[in-house]
Amino acid sequence: MSARVGIHDLAVATAGHVLELDLLAESAGIDPAKYRVGLGQEQMSVPGPDEDVVTMGAAAAQRIIERHGADGIRTLFFATESGVDQSKSAGVFVHRLLGLPATCRVVELKQACYSATAALQAAADMVARRPDERVLVVASDIARYDLDSAAEATQGAGAVAMLVTADPAIAELESAIGISTADVDDFFRPNDSATAVVDGKLSIGAYLDGMIGAWDDYRAHGGVDVSEIDRFCHHQPFTKMAVKAHRRLADHTGVPLGAELMAASTGYNRRIGNSYTASLYFALAALLDSDDDLAGRRVGMFSYGSGSVSEFFALRVCDDYRTHTRGEETEALLAARTPVDVPRYRALHTAAAELNSRVDVAVEPGVDAPFHFAGIAGRARQYRRA
Ligand code: COA
Repeated sequence: MSARVGIHDLAVATAGHVLELDLLAESAGIDPAKYRVGLGQEQMSVPGPDEDVVTMGAAAAQRIIERHGADGIRTLFFATESGVDQSKSAGVFVHRLLGLPATCRVVELKQACYSATAALQAAADMVARRPDERVLVVASDIARYDLDSAAEATQGAGAVAMLVTADPAIAELESAIGISTADVDDFFRPNDSATAVVDGKLSIGAYLDGMIGAWDDYRAHGGVDVSEIDRFCHHQPFTKMAVKAHRRLADHTGVPLGAELMAASTGYNRRIGNSYTASLYFALAALLDSDDDLAGRRVGMFSYGSGSVSEFFALRVCDDYRTHTRGEETEALLAARTPVDVPRYRALHTAAAELNSRVDVAVEPGVDAPFHFAGIAGRARQYRRA
């Protein structure tokens, strides 16, 4: 990639409720330290009936449109593994809610937690060919597992929107990329199921194998030595997973990599839980919003999607990135979530599964958010601005 191409803006959204994992642990008779320390998670965002990947994705993307307008946006990539339709892209709903021009193509991408990275790379290549165009990448997901399952504490919800342009203000994408794909049944969601089927232990092993495969391919394709990477963002289905990945990379390369090189990247994911496709980019947002001065620094990014596809790539942070990041806005969003107790969380979880099978149903606005899922009319999903 000869032109400077990368992330010009990055904005996030999450669901309107929050559950403290200490409460979940107490109600299940589990030591809260298992979640706080063992998984590295403190809270999880819980969606209400009027929220889904469309409403969160639109809320994140709206912040970008408010700041930069829609001129020149000719592509919207919507990355998700908890999509709302088997045929129509969730992005088409976002396109209407945001009033994007008809001359903007919209596509949904799926490969578990990985597909936002495919979207980002495709967006960068499009902009490299046509530098006057801008691409909107939206990653939005709800991680929902069965009640009382081992995976329950690793649920969550959130969206990240990124504007990919030439001469970016936040971070430039470097061209070296490492990839590793393997057919593994560690995690999948059959068409008839509202919750994912997950073999957690298998997924941890598949993630770590994918990381090493992607790292070796990165090096074989011109990627820099690990000692030339200043900070790391590893995919975070739960933040302790990123710690495990970081240690594995250090063992594999034989180079000591201190925990301080990735610690700041866990700040948001500890509080929203797993947001699948958005998770890696919440890690990047947390790193950018931390006190660490990253100007001119190289950030190594490891993206993993069960099933599985893994990718390692790097970003170079722009010199004046701090004038473009949104730390205060994100803190305000997290603080605005309504706390729920365990019975309320369980009721919201059950209601979400029941809604999926309805043919006609009206859903009243519940949370304070810019967009709402308004129900289903003749099997078609309905969305409204607040
Ligand atoms: N205090 C501190 N740590 C504790 C603890 C306590 N009282 N009790 C347990 N732990 C630690 C365990 O030692 C373990 O840490 P380690 O992996 O570093 O050894 C961690 O907490 C989790 O405990 P474990 O017994 O392995 O949990 P689990 O079997 O109930 O489930 C997952 C954990 C991640 C497998 C499960 O949440 C899951 O399936 N999640 C969804 C899949 C996923 O996110 N996969 C990631 C790759 S994509």
